[in-house]
Amino acid sequence: MQKNQNIWNAEKYEKHADFVPRLAFPLIDLLGDIKGKKILDVGCGDGTLTLELVNRGADVIGIDSSPEMVKASKSKGIKAILGTATDLPFYEEFDAVFSNAVLHWVPEAEKALENIAKSLKDGGIFVAEFGGKGNIQSIIQAMEQVFEENPEFGKFKNIWYFPDANEYKSLLEKAGFKVEYIELIPRPTPIDHIQNWLEIFTNVYTSHLAKSQINLFRSRVRELLKSRLYTPEKGWVADYVRLRLKAVKNYRLVKSALNSYIDNMI
Ligand code: BEZ
Repeated sequence: MQKNQNIWNAEKYEKHADFVPRLAFPLIDLLGDIKGKKILDVGCGDGTLTLELVNRGADVIGIDSSPEMVKASKSKGIKAILGTATDLPFYEEFDAVFSNAVLHWVPEAEKALENIAKSLKDGGIFVAEFGGKGNIQSIIQAMEQVFEENPEFGKFKNIWYFPDANEYKSLLEKAGFKVEYIELIPRPTPIDHIQNWLEIFTNVYTSHLAKSQINLFRSRVRELLKSRLYTPEKGWVADYVRLRLKAVKNYRLVKSALNSYIDNMI
């Protein structure tokens, strides 16, 4: 949630995207015992998961680039500030950084990881999950097709970042992390209706369009996706693929790699 700060509607998110925090409990478990731990929740959204971390005994700060989401978090009694993953105002403060369903909005992955590493104490852990390679492929294809069918919409440009595990592991290592676990997990995800999903998550692609064009975009995408993502038995199921990871900040690794490089040079 980096740019386009006003694309989020906290009320709609809480009502129609409640599956986002609900499906993230296994991710919280990856943090282990967090009682008394200082945790940063990057992209805290409406604060549902941040509150769960607080309830498990952690001292948590949430950060989000949407003023509306920060307000929604604060209304739950959570410490939350406005800011982005690529510019975190912290230095070696946290035992853990947690992030759910956010980093696919951050194409500047190296910068985000540098900032996350900087915010962690040495030995601190980074636990995250977000869209990985192949995520919502059919939804993106349908959106692309609708832009092609309507040249007046402009050129469709995918802004989401869905890396595979090897690519992201390399970036983590480059930022000074030791990767304990990283996995790409296909997770077909029931959503209440594709129309609500499009309303919540695709404003970044349609904010330049007139209302009638936005309506046309959403109804045509829905039409194209119906045979792929909808069945009367299961309703709408989106083709999600998660990239889930746990990594430990360890600058000694970086230092020793640097030392052996220097030794080889001499
Ligand atoms: C997700 O994978 O969580 C996601 C990706 C893009 C838009 C909305 C959700």
